[in-house]
Amino acid sequence: MIVLGIESSCDETGVALYAAEGGLLAHALYSQVELHARFGGVVPELASRDHVRKLLPLIDQVIDSSGINKADISGVAYTAGPGLVGALLVGATTGRSLAWTWGVPAVAVHHMEGHLLAPMLEADPPEFPFLALLVSGGHTLLVSVAGVGDYQVLGDSVDDAVGEAFDKTASLLGLSYPGGPALAALAVKGDPARYRFPRPMTDRPGLDFSFSGLKTFALNTWRDSAQTDTERADIARAFEDAVVDTMVIKCRRALQQTGLSTLVIAGGVGANVRLRERLGELMSAQGGRVCYPRPEFCTDNGAMIAYAGYRRLQAGQHEGLSIKAIPRWSLEDLQAV
Ligand code: KG4
Ligand code: ZN
Repeated sequence: MIVLGIESSCDETGVALYAAEGGLLAHALYSQVELHARFGGVVPELASRDHVRKLLPLIDQVIDSSGINKADISGVAYTAGPGLVGALLVGATTGRSLAWTWGVPAVAVHHMEGHLLAPMLEADPPEFPFLALLVSGGHTLLVSVAGVGDYQVLGDSVDDAVGEAFDKTASLLGLSYPGGPALAALAVKGDPARYRFPRPMTDRPGLDFSFSGLKTFALNTWRDSAQTDTERADIARAFEDAVVDTMVIKCRRALQQTGLSTLVIAGGVGANVRLRERLGELMSAQGGRVCYPRPEFCTDNGAMIAYAGYRRLQAGQHEGLSIKAIPRWSLEDLQAV
């Protein structure tokens, strides 16, 4: 079985081919970051139009580079949600139509399931059950994972997602969009003892997250400071330390609550080095294991969608002829495999 995977939920066009024998055959990504940078965030209509321009050439490129023929493809997986509806519709329409043309099944993939299963593309993949910390531009989720499609959401963000908080804080410090990686790079130069930011919602029980207050805290600290490069780096450091600390506290709590001993970190913020280090320390102190995808598969990509689709198609799941685009969609609504 060879599955073509298509990702177009936000500002990245991703395409990949995953094979039952051979694993990941080829993948390619086109990022729209430059297109949206001058607006300081993703402009949905521009995103949709750019997916239209880039998707088919990217599919051709991936098939060519894999060395297989179109006729060898036995299924198509596309991101059906959550995400921007116009952007989703491009991948969904293209994926469903190609599947129809080729006479193969199509499967609608949940974007966060893609992130959650991405570590399975690596050597020594995690085994079920595990706890997943999904941290992206749109989500902050703690999920108890019993198997593919068998998810219980233990914690969610009550306001800004963690990636969004990184991006907004970066922006107020004058860093360009998307600011997460730039803020993390700046934080390395910051003095950890200069400022201490709160660790939101850690002083009460529960596993939910709230990061919008931290962004305001950063804004006020920046306004009251001398606004030098040193201050900027110190604030970046204080912000990152607070976010990472908060996530470590919540993960420790969730592990205690569930008795799980494997932790998966996925989603764009999962590329954050400090977060990986701290969660690695937590898991080794507890005698457990931490697994994450390589950094390029932390952020949006087609490989994770091809893989998630492969797992569902292999289990006999697929859609009818309808084109599915579901902008808001809970992981808990998925069918178990
Ligand atoms: O998963 P993703 O590519 O897209 C969504 O599904 O949202 O995540 C993108 C988010 C952005 O907010 C970006 O700033 C953040 O991940 N990000 C980071 C890092 N790399 C990407 N945040 C903190 N540190 C990083 N190294
Ligand atoms: Zn994502």
